Amino acid sequence: MSHVRFGSGPVKPDGFLHGEGGVSAWDELLRDTASVPDTFRPRPAGPVGRIIPAGSLLFDVPAPGQVSIARGHTLDVLASVPTFDLLATAPPYAMGGEGAEHAIGAVVAVGLREAALRLRKGGWAVVYSASSWRSTYYMVEAVRGVLEPIRIATWTKPVARTKVRTPGWSWASVNVLLFRKPGGDRTGTPSILLDHITAAPLMVGRRAQLPPSVARWSVEPFAEPGGLMLDPFSGSGALPQAAADLGMAAIGIEANP
Ligand SMILES: C[S@@+](CC[C@H](N)C(=O)[O-])C[C@H]1O[C@@H](n2cnc3c(N)ncnc32)[C@H](O)[C@@H]1O
Repeated sequence: MSHVRFGSGPVKPDGFLHGEGGVSAWDELLRDTASVPDTFRPRPAGPVGRIIPAGSLLFDVPAPGQVSIARGHTLDVLASVPTFDLLATAPPYAMGGEGAEHAIGAVVAVGLREAALRLRKGGWAVVYSASSWRSTYYMVEAVRGVLEPIRIATWTKPVARTKVRTPGWSWASVNVLLFRKPGGDRTGTPSILLDHITAAPLMVGRRAQLPPSVARWSVEPFAEPGGLMLDPFSGSGALPQAAADLGMAAIGIEANP
């Protein structure tokens, strides 16, 4: 099984490219992803859905209303994902840099693109990004020619979870990018339904775990009951759970469920 490996060793964080938290956020991200295994060892099941055995080639498509989280590197698992109807994901916001940071950013770009290629024509994609232009453009460029960028919605946080304060900022926001795949059935949901939400981040749980209200807000306008939803960087499974609650069959992929 070949996949991009996360490196170790010195990393020079640039300190302002990682959303609200700067260097501190990058340190946390590196700590999280440094534990991503090169070979996938069995782990206890996570809080959501059923964990598909490591190395499984057959992708398990759940029933509508159910979630399956596939443990593994997203580039490996994506190879066995069938065509699906809705892409919703919050990938790591590591963009550029060098060493391990570069490896994560490259995986995000390739993972997003590979997922977008499997989205059905006319299907919507909801991609969370840091509110920096760099992060936003990075996500957009990753899917150039595959998905059309339609709209940027915003999750505004009245308080930040990260402890480092960015001077002059007492709040933080996340860009929620809305894309659509050309072709197919383009009638239906207007993109204007995804606009803005204000909600505090969770102060407990996994790093970057979305509050259920935010996950639901971003998925609800585009949920297709009976259809298939994919989150290739699913973390706690908040986005797949929101899609399942809205009647979709939901697949998450997570290196560290
Ligand atoms: C921003 S978090 C997702 C948070 C999620 N939306 C939630 O509400 O919990 C990004 C996730 O991507 C996972 N990840 C990073 N690289 C990955 C890879 N190559 N394959 C699969 N998952 C990966 C990380 O472990 C992390 O849980």
